[in-house]
Amino acid sequence: MNKAKKNSNYDAWGIERLKLPNADIEKIYRNIVGWTILAPSSHNSQPWKFKIHIGAKSDSISILIDKSRILRESDKYSRQTFISLGCALANLTNAADYYGLHYTVKIPVNSSKGDESVIISISKKDAKINNRFRKILDSMKTRTMNRGNYLDKAIPKIVLRKFYNIAENGGLRLTAIMDQRTKNLISELQFQADLYAIADTKFRKELARFILSDKSDEFIGMPAKTIKLSEEMGIYISKKLSEKLFDADISSGFAASNRDAMRNSPGIFVISSPKDSVLSWIKAGQIFENIALIAEQNGLAISVYAAIIESMRDKIFQKNFFNITSDTQKVPLVLFRAGYSKQSYPHSPRIPSDLLTQYSKD
Ligand SMILES: Cc1cc2nc3c(=O)[nH]c(=O)nc-3n(C[C@H](O)[C@H](O)[C@H](O)COP(=O)(O)O)c2cc1C
Repeated sequence: MNKAKKNSNYDAWGIERLKLPNADIEKIYRNIVGWTILAPSSHNSQPWKFKIHIGAKSDSISILIDKSRILRESDKYSRQTFISLGCALANLTNAADYYGLHYTVKIPVNSSKGDESVIISISKKDAKINNRFRKILDSMKTRTMNRGNYLDKAIPKIVLRKFYNIAENGGLRLTAIMDQRTKNLISELQFQADLYAIADTKFRKELARFILSDKSDEFIGMPAKTIKLSEEMGIYISKKLSEKLFDADISSGFAASNRDAMRNSPGIFVISSPKDSVLSWIKAGQIFENIALIAEQNGLAISVYAAIIESMRDKIFQKNFFNITSDTQKVPLVLFRAGYSKQSYPHSPRIPSDLLTQYSKD
């Protein structure tokens, strides 16, 4: 995997908002990509790369999928990859809005097969700071996944309203699960989904490669501390995961810890869509990241769970899910919990944006 050489693997978090009018347009576009890569991604795989083009009439920033970074085992249909790409797109458009750029977002129909997955065409080049987006940018810098236990304190209605508005504007449905009985049932299903995923040797081996020492200089992966493990446990679990037979007690312990944290959270949320398409996946990612940023601005923690979503390709899981809650649309795409937390979690590394960006000019 990419090793940090000249750049440190945490440099990306030091990004600053540019002061205009000193910055030229190329610098602004590069800065926008710098915010984009702070987005979350499954296993912190960061499956993206970028093209900045400065044209005679209009400019563009494109997001491309780096196919070598798709998680072949945990993301067999590339769904989590495109949800991650949607998260990146949310950051990109928020940063473009901060600089007051006029742009259109194009998602080519063959987005999953072609080179360019999302193209942002920018028609107006004279940037002007829009301070309405300042807090959003700042929250990108402080946001992290928080896999800890949340306090028994309700999410304020005004924040919930903001969550719903984001989903509505993004064109998908958000369902909130707040009653204890349904939370228990969903958490049990998540427990089963974790066990189901971990039972697969290839899934485990892939996951093992993404668990990092906290001192690692890798650009990709999850440091032990961010996934609630001590340095020693991180090394131990990663080694164990690579073995042919996995310790059943460790599997149950891991799944139970997720289950308990989930059922004790004030809210479990599902973003769902009528369709299981690339476009829906990208939209779901955008909505999820925008909700995560609003949560961050309101002092709320968030943690997301892909195993339950992926397990639903299995009919039994799907049937059980819809027996528990029928309020979602046909295809649940993102499931996360939110709440207040006393504990904060550290950042994960990022590939520096300059290493991911190709630049061209007419
Ligand atoms: C689409 C997607 C799926 C994810 N699935 C899980 C998951 O199943 N379990 C989990 O603990 N974290 C999950 N995450 C969180 C990532 O592991 C996390 O975003 C990444 O390690 C980077 O950390 P950061 O968000 O703190 O920057 C997911 C994130 C995304 C965007």
